[in-house]
Amino acid sequence: MKNNQDLIRFGFLASGRGSNMQTIIDACKDGQLQAKPIIVISNNADSGALESARKENIVACHLSSTTHPDSTLLDAAIAGALKSHHVDLVILAGYMRMIGPKVLDAFGGKIINIHPALLPKYGGKGMYGMKVHEAVIAAGEPETGVTIHVVNAEYDRGPILAQRVVPIKPDDTPETLATRVLETEHEIYVDTLRKVISGEIQLPQT
Ligand code: GRF
Repeated sequence: MKNNQDLIRFGFLASGRGSNMQTIIDACKDGQLQAKPIIVISNNADSGALESARKENIVACHLSSTTHPDSTLLDAAIAGALKSHHVDLVILAGYMRMIGPKVLDAFGGKIINIHPALLPKYGGKGMYGMKVHEAVIAAGEPETGVTIHVVNAEYDRGPILAQRVVPIKPDDTPETLATRVLETEHEIYVDTLRKVISGEIQLPQT
């Protein structure tokens, strides 16, 4: 295990229950990831993600259009919070908002997202949560999966770091599929972050 000051500093953006975030926090705690979760920012004051952050003694920050009605100021506040906590890597874990230009400028190439499908299929605006699994099943796909990618200014279009296939069973519903995809999400997110930290996976230079 590295010294505290040598650990990569993670900042999370999450809107919902935060199960991916919790899995990553657990992997930091048990030494699978040589990283330290520093701050959790959520646009949802009642999110499970903020609740988990408080339980884990991680800085919990609600920043949204409620706290900052002007989107430019909201973007600046998010960038400022991440910078003032010296975050090295920004991890999106079910974050339902676009990343603003100030955050992209400050952390370009160092923002990572997870998507519950095999991008570029079933990505883009409006493709989130159960809508993704419903569309995959409606299209009769034989398989779906998980994608980890770097975030850029285009929704779900940044460079892909890793993908893992999840086969679809004939009797799958969007709900049963979502459960299996989520298990794969937890595995691949930790695995990919471990490879990013070790240098086995390189983030794009910006
Ligand atoms: C996951 O399915 C993730 O792929 C998507 O949002 C969901 C978040 O789940 N971006 P959780 O909040 O991590 O449990």
